[in-house]
Amino acid sequence: MCGIVGIVGRGLAAPLLLDALRRLEYRGYDSAGIATLVNGGIERRRAEGKIARLAALIDQNPLTGTTGIGHTRWATHGRPSEVNAHPIATERVAVVHNGIIENHAELKAELTAAGAVFESETDTETVARLLDRSLASGASPEEAMAATLKRIHGAFALAVLVAGRHDMIMAARRGSPLALGYGEGEMFVGSDALALAPLTERIAYLEEGDWAVVTGAGARIFDSENRPVERAIRRTAVSGAMVGKGNYRHFMEKEIHEQPAVIGDTLKSYIDPATRTVTLPDLGVDLGRIPRVSIVACGTSLYAGQVARDWFEQVARLPAVAEIASEFRYREPVLDPGAMALFISQSGETIDTLAALRWAKTQNQRIVSVINARESAMERESDGVLHTLAGPEIGVASTKAFTTQLAVLACLVIGTGRARGTLSPAREAELTSALIEVPARAAEVLEMDAALRAMAEEVAEARDVLYLGRGTAWTIAMEGALKLKEISYIHAEGYPAGEMKHGPIALIDEQVPVVVIAPAGPLFEKTASNVQEVHARGGRVILMSDKAGCERLAPLCAHTLALPSVHPFVAPILYAIPAQLLAYHVAVLKGTDVDQPRNLAKSVTVE
Ligand code: AGP
Repeated sequence: MCGIVGIVGRGLAAPLLLDALRRLEYRGYDSAGIATLVNGGIERRRAEGKIARLAALIDQNPLTGTTGIGHTRWATHGRPSEVNAHPIATERVAVVHNGIIENHAELKAELTAAGAVFESETDTETVARLLDRSLASGASPEEAMAATLKRIHGAFALAVLVAGRHDMIMAARRGSPLALGYGEGEMFVGSDALALAPLTERIAYLEEGDWAVVTGAGARIFDSENRPVERAIRRTAVSGAMVGKGNYRHFMEKEIHEQPAVIGDTLKSYIDPATRTVTLPDLGVDLGRIPRVSIVACGTSLYAGQVARDWFEQVARLPAVAEIASEFRYREPVLDPGAMALFISQSGETIDTLAALRWAKTQNQRIVSVINARESAMERESDGVLHTLAGPEIGVASTKAFTTQLAVLACLVIGTGRARGTLSPAREAELTSALIEVPARAAEVLEMDAALRAMAEEVAEARDVLYLGRGTAWTIAMEGALKLKEISYIHAEGYPAGEMKHGPIALIDEQVPVVVIAPAGPLFEKTASNVQEVHARGGRVILMSDKAGCERLAPLCAHTLALPSVHPFVAPILYAIPAQLLAYHVAVLKGTDVDQPRNLAKSVTVE
């Protein structure tokens, strides 16, 4: 996901812009750039690769000017390169953009026919050239911005510099978040509050369709019909502290090891350990009366939703489906009016999930979201929000956000079962007791790091890896496969263990490691049979089970990992951790960029 920053300041803008861009690095990017206004003209510095390269460029060739914009680019249109790095500029304007201009081809053809000469392969350049053309025809910056916004379609956030207007930045938001920061005699623009946190605590969020003219004195904000509007200025809760790696090599390693603490923090905010009961905030929905729940998310958050789907049906006896956000509204599902639509997102900004949320609202669904980041678009558009307390998750591969999502979802399921009368007080106490145990058991699993590092040696050589499991362990198998894929670039596939014999078993030979997630429980025996099937064909099984399971199946396995015994209800939370560690160690052995894997972004704000 791209990152945008802008400053109308009193001092040099470039150092502040660079620092703000560093705070946006976690979003994933492949090039970066800054532009400032110097003696009325636009000066740019851009570099492919990491921000360190951009900083070196600016050290060699400093940028003066107190007003500027900056950008970290995650390539959509046009390969990662300096020429495609933002800011994209003409002699009159410089533009940074997050999102996609969906009608860029048509606009480019029109502008080229009128004599414009495009320099980049980006869709963003159509915005710069439209603004330039308006200004050249004598329009004011405000008129040029209003006219340009009328012409461009798609989801985007923009910040614009205009040559000669050193006291001003223009900004617009349609689909991708954008915040205004209010300083003392200076103003800021940023993709999120984290980018602006060291500069100011006073933040206002542009709403859908808003655009703004920002000067040192403040901001004039207009809605999509160009009517002046006010947006509330609030004190952000987002910490200005730059999150560090501590003694860990990577953010991902640190965040894996933070899980006992943050799972505990999250559970504590919903469970009373004395009464062993769950307390939920007002979610704007009567959990005792909803006929069903649609659970919608992407990626790892979708897998948290798939576990919750099984829990809702098994524990709360509530009909539940888990839906891929980017498919949900196009599938035209038949939804019961007044049912709950549950959205899960670490960032709260994933456009596929946000678009599905907005569609669900049109279907009279009660909107509840489980979100980690604070003050996100999804939070502002939900009827009820349940926060995970994972803290900022910087590694692109989601780990602590996932297990804290499961912790929150488990509490939501218990609260729903109680509201529906399908969960007895004794059963509630049993399940909450199991949850309260998880942080301690998770800490024990983290002690197995060396064993997982040894297993990683074998997996790192593989071309393909299979992950198998049944029930909620199937979903953990899918999540384990996703972790391996996204940070080690090894092809991996999670599969229902029972389904493996209907095709994928053809893949099994001694070259294909098979990770089997097999916690104790009613499905263990069936999974044990699948281990037999794999072994009989020369497959090399890496078994994750409890002590009894590992002792039972050790003769059939290349490796076994005996996890602490836990209640089957909470096994998905615990078994996610060795899967994360295995993927992490494989990636370290492969030498990939663990925290910012190639092609990936921390939150994807393009559809
Ligand atoms: C998870 O490791 C991935 N980085 C990715 O699948 C992520 O879970 C997905 O993009 C959803 O992001 P969100 O939770 O911020 O909505």
